[in-house]
Amino acid sequence: MEIIRIPRIMQDISKDFLLRGKTIGFVPTMGALHDGHLSLVKRSREENLITVVSIFVNPAQFGQNEDYNIYPRDLEGDTEKLIKENVDILFLPDAASMYPEGYLTYINVENLSEKLCGAFRPGHFRGVTTIVAKLFNIVKPTRAYFGQKDFQQSVIVSKMAGDLNIDIDIVVCPTIREKDGLAMSSRNSYLDNAQRQAATIIYKCLKETCESIKSGIIEIKNVKNFMLDFLSKEPLISEIDYAGIYDTSSLEELSTAKENMILAIALRIGKTRLIDNMLINIKEER
Ligand code: PAF
Repeated sequence: MEIIRIPRIMQDISKDFLLRGKTIGFVPTMGALHDGHLSLVKRSREENLITVVSIFVNPAQFGQNEDYNIYPRDLEGDTEKLIKENVDILFLPDAASMYPEGYLTYINVENLSEKLCGAFRPGHFRGVTTIVAKLFNIVKPTRAYFGQKDFQQSVIVSKMAGDLNIDIDIVVCPTIREKDGLAMSSRNSYLDNAQRQAATIIYKCLKETCESIKSGIIEIKNVKNFMLDFLSKEPLISEIDYAGIYDTSSLEELSTAKENMILAIALRIGKTRLIDNMLINIKEER
C-alpha cells in the first residue's frame, strides 16, 4: 500500500489510473477504523480495480465545543488494517494542505443540511460537503462508499454530487453492528461500561418501532412519541436530539406512511453523541 500525503501527487496518480482505464473506488474516513469502515473497503475492492482510502480528521465539520481535539486517532492500527485489506493507496493529507492559509471556499447543500443532525450541529454538513467535494476532486473516484449509519450524510453527499454534476456513483452500504446491535462508530470508544450497555437501547428502540409499524400496532403519526417513551426507560441518556420517522429523500418528519421511510435517532449518553437509523419499506414489509 502506498501512502500519499500531498493532494497534487494524489491527483496526478489518479489521473494516471483513469488514463489507463482503471476504475477507482474511494472510501473517505476520519480514521480510527472499525469493521464498518472495512466493509466499505471490501465492497470497493470487489467493484473497482483500484481502492483509495483517505484518513483526514476534518476540522471544518466539528463545532467549537465538539470533540475535534479528542477524536480517536490510531494511524498505526489503521495502516495495518488497510494493508490487510489490500488497499492500493492511503491518502493522508494534513490540515495545512487541505485548508491552506487564505482558504475561502465552502460548499453547502441547503435545506437538507439544516435538518436532523444539522439542527444540532450547525455548520457540520457544510464542513462535510466541502471536504468530500475536495477529496472527490483530488481522488477522482469512479465510485465512493459511505455507510448507512450516517444516512443524512449520504443523502446530502448524493444531492451535492447530482447538483454539481460530479461524475461519480455514491454507494451506500449497510450499517455494521456489534453483536448486541449497537452500530459501530469510532465514538463508541468514548463510552464506559455502563454507558456502552445503555447504548444498546438505540437499536432495540429502532427494531421495536419498526416491528410495531409493520404489524400495525402504531400509526406513523404516533411513532415519535412511541420512540421517546421507549428511550425514556434508559436513565443514562442525557439528551435526545431527535427520534422519529422521516422521508428518505427530503428528510422531513412524516405523519402518514410513505413507501420509503427511515426511523432515525440522535441522542447523548453522557457527553457522547450517538446516531443510528433503520429503513422501512412498507410495501415490502406489510
Ligand atoms: O463519515 C465520515 O467519516 C466523515 O464525515 C467524512 C465523510 C470522511 C468526511 O470527513
